[in-house]
Amino acid sequence: MSKTISGFSKLSKAKKIEWIVSTYFANNESAKQILEQYWNSDQKIQQLHDEFIENTISNYYLPFGVAPNFLINDKLHTIPMAIEESSVVAAASKSAKFWMDRGGFKTKVLSTTKIGQVHFMYYGNVDTLTSYFTAIKPKLLQDVKPITKNMEKRGGGIIDIELRNKTQDIKGYYQLHVSFETLDAMGANFINSCLEQFAKTFKNDALEFKDFSEEEKNIQIVMSILSNYVPDCLVRAEVSCKVEDLNEDKGITPEEFASKFVQAVNIAEVEPYRAVTHNKGIMNGIDAVVLATGNDFRAVEAGVHAYASRNGKYSSLTHAKVENGIFYFWMEIPLALGTVGGLTGLHPLVKLALELLHHPSAKELMQIVAVAGLAQNFAALRSLTTTGIQKGHMKMHLMNILNQFEANDYEKAIIVDYFKTHTVSHNAVVEALQNLRIKN
Ligand code: MEV
Repeated sequence: MSKTISGFSKLSKAKKIEWIVSTYFANNESAKQILEQYWNSDQKIQQLHDEFIENTISNYYLPFGVAPNFLINDKLHTIPMAIEESSVVAAASKSAKFWMDRGGFKTKVLSTTKIGQVHFMYYGNVDTLTSYFTAIKPKLLQDVKPITKNMEKRGGGIIDIELRNKTQDIKGYYQLHVSFETLDAMGANFINSCLEQFAKTFKNDALEFKDFSEEEKNIQIVMSILSNYVPDCLVRAEVSCKVEDLNEDKGITPEEFASKFVQAVNIAEVEPYRAVTHNKGIMNGIDAVVLATGNDFRAVEAGVHAYASRNGKYSSLTHAKVENGIFYFWMEIPLALGTVGGLTGLHPLVKLALELLHHPSAKELMQIVAVAGLAQNFAALRSLTTTGIQKGHMKMHLMNILNQFEANDYEKAIIVDYFKTHTVSHNAVVEALQNLRIKN
């Protein structure tokens, strides 16, 4: 039976677990054992995880894999990926190998601007507000100096502050719309701290502005927060090769393959039902690297999908064409990533992932992540337009089914061998396992 509890966060970890298992589980001991099984034997690492969030009672593992052979702008990379879906790393590795033999991936960071907004209400004269904003702007920038000083030393900081009139949408609604350059930091804390200082100065100094009426002095700050929509923090990744070099051994000519591939992308460009799944496949690659490198995958997801609908209709993030006998496949996506701050200096596996990538700058990481997305989409479309997706998916899923039925190493070896020449399905695997167990 569920029940409420007060002061839960103040309890010790042991007491929290005691309350959870006795309240929610039929078998207290086994629930406790599962939770404790995932504790790290190294006290320091466990404490680190305990302190990442409130009420940690265990750790949640995901496989941490690597996809080698990624040639990006003529430099080789092995890309770290944290993901549970069986086929993703295998697909990334296959794509990497395919394009390594055809010149590799080319990438470019197009822009790095991030946005934050102070949302406020003001019901007075617009022109007076505009002249207040012009008068106060230098002071806004001055008051935020203690926060921006270090970032400015490194070449970043505040790019501009604009006053935006949103009263067409909501009566009295305005914004301070601020653009930032946060260099190698994702910048959420920096941006939010700056915005909260802007809000304070903007509200307080209004009380002294002589052109405001008593009523106009009362600027109401609603909230100050960064935006995860970053259409001006864009990276481009692309591959291209002669159509004849798309030589697949899947019973399809290079020309047919190129044409079907471009059709598949065209469909995702015009059909939202397909576009969502198409982009989900891209995010399989992107999220896995974002997570492995300690970045905020929810922020990236939100920003990328908003970008996919920027023209008023949800559409494909990737594009493809054949021109003069050359196959082109490319993507431009917004990615706000960091390689300093946040988890990047704390989580041992994140630090390892960044070292594996030769300690990239945020710009370099944007390019690597974009490539992981493009490669994943290439692998998915390559399967979808030739063999179908299930062949590869089910092959990779085979081990999950065998584990579900607690197959031992001997059984696994026999069954994996059997399915090298048979089609994998859940039923077929169960049946093969049963037959094997009857025989032995
Ligand atoms: C599965 O996780 C991703 C795919 O559905 C992507 C796609 O359909 O393009 C295979």
